[in-house]
Amino acid sequence: MTTDHDPVRRAMMTALAVAPLSAFGETSNAGGEMRRTGSHMLVAYFSRSGNTRVIAGLIHRSLGTDLFEIRPASAYPDDYLATVEQARQERDSGYEPALAASVSDMERYDTLFLGFPIWGGTAPPIIRAFLSAHDLAGKTLIPFVTHGGYGLGDSQSVLASHAPEARLRQGFVMEADQERRTMNRVNDWLEGVEIKQ
Ligand SMILES: Cc1cc2nc3c(=O)[nH]c(=O)nc-3n(C[C@H](O)[C@H](O)[C@H](O)COP(=O)(O)O)c2cc1C
Repeated sequence: MTTDHDPVRRAMMTALAVAPLSAFGETSNAGGEMRRTGSHMLVAYFSRSGNTRVIAGLIHRSLGTDLFEIRPASAYPDDYLATVEQARQERDSGYEPALAASVSDMERYDTLFLGFPIWGGTAPPIIRAFLSAHDLAGKTLIPFVTHGGYGLGDSQSVLASHAPEARLRQGFVMEADQERRTMNRVNDWLEGVEIKQ
């Protein structure tokens, strides 16, 4: 999706190299969903386990953008497998979950960086909901996507169909640590741990 000559990728790699370690533990938007800098560029992202959040923070700090965390009104379960099942049902039925908050003044932005993980081979349902709730006509839309090893799926055609009048640009895609892999490794380890009762 990108090359090292891509300016967006280069900016993010530079930010990654100079970002303080503390940045990686930062939780965004402590005071709410939106962090404002007065920029005409917005980074909006959804993240469950944090991979996409790290990239969102890097773009936000590197380019001085506003930052918005996309959250569902009803949180997904903490349990990974329950979330996978709920996401599968929502994908198959075309359900768009309610947003916890929307961007009230989207008209002030000319560029939207939109970040999300791949869920079930596509963009998560909450991303479809976010796109349906905001008018992106005429705006530059730059996706940044993380996945667990199976690639972008049909996520880019979801962006094109849900934001048909946006100028969809090539974005950034990266394989990132899978919560499932961590869960399996930890469960295997826990099975072998001897605990005195
Ligand atoms: C519900 C769910 C479904 C997922 N489906 C896929 C998938 O279809 N293909 C894939 O490569 N990774 C899949 N993953 C892995 C995530 O895309 C990957 O770990 C991503 O980096 C997580 O980003 P986050 O930490 O920002 O939430 C899935 C993860 C979850 C929680």
